[in-house]
Amino acid sequence: MERVLQLTADGSHTIAVPGLQVTYHSTHGAIQESRHVFIEAGLKYHKGTGVIKILEMGLGTGLNALLTFQQEIPVFYHSLELYPLTPEEASALNYAAQLGNKDTFQLIHSCPWEQDVPLTNTFTLHKSQSSPQEIRLTKQYDIVYYDAFAPDIQPALWTAAIFQKLYAHLTPGGILVTYCCKGIVRRALQSVGFMVSKLPGPPGKREILRAVK
Ligand SMILES: C[S@@+](CC[C@H](N)C(=O)[O-])C[C@H]1O[C@@H](n2cnc3c(N)ncnc32)[C@H](O)[C@@H]1O
Repeated sequence: MERVLQLTADGSHTIAVPGLQVTYHSTHGAIQESRHVFIEAGLKYHKGTGVIKILEMGLGTGLNALLTFQQEIPVFYHSLELYPLTPEEASALNYAAQLGNKDTFQLIHSCPWEQDVPLTNTFTLHKSQSSPQEIRLTKQYDIVYYDAFAPDIQPALWTAAIFQKLYAHLTPGGILVTYCCKGIVRRALQSVGFMVSKLPGPPGKREILRAVK
């Protein structure tokens, strides 16, 4: 499926998939959205100590991984991605130019898959070329960044069965954050036991969701 680089309103890139009429991030600002949803509402809300274990649905451009790395806290970051970017696509992105940590950003994309890779003393990345349905999870996570394409595009990724699996692999008090606030997603999360809150969204988006175990 064709993917093209696109500039968003805050000057950061995203990737568009014309065939699906979808972008990887909000066109109002990719960096702005990722910070708001995943870093502020997710990582900073979680009050855990020690190594924070994060599971991400959709590594995509690696933006959430880079922003998380930049928080300079100990993190084990497990990211699922069925359709990795090519090296050329990854190197065209302007995130390192905007945010710094060029070497780490390159490593996020170039490091091997299916193994724990310590990028630094405190940040370990594990990339799995797998879907949330297929992946066999063996850890308990503190935070899930749920960043799949929207339910009208990929309904199979927003089911109660998947959320049940994620719930079972979250620590007590663990959280799932997502940019998607659709009623079917909220209800699916509640149906497996999550306490779900709507939060104000980033510019261009009214609300986002945080679900707590
Ligand atoms: C909204 S984008 C995620 C963006 C990413 N977090 C970022 O910051 O660039 C959704 C991602 O999910 C990936 N994806 C689509 N279907 C998938 C599946 N069934 N399993 C795993 N990843 C999938 C896409 O390739 C894409 O990278």
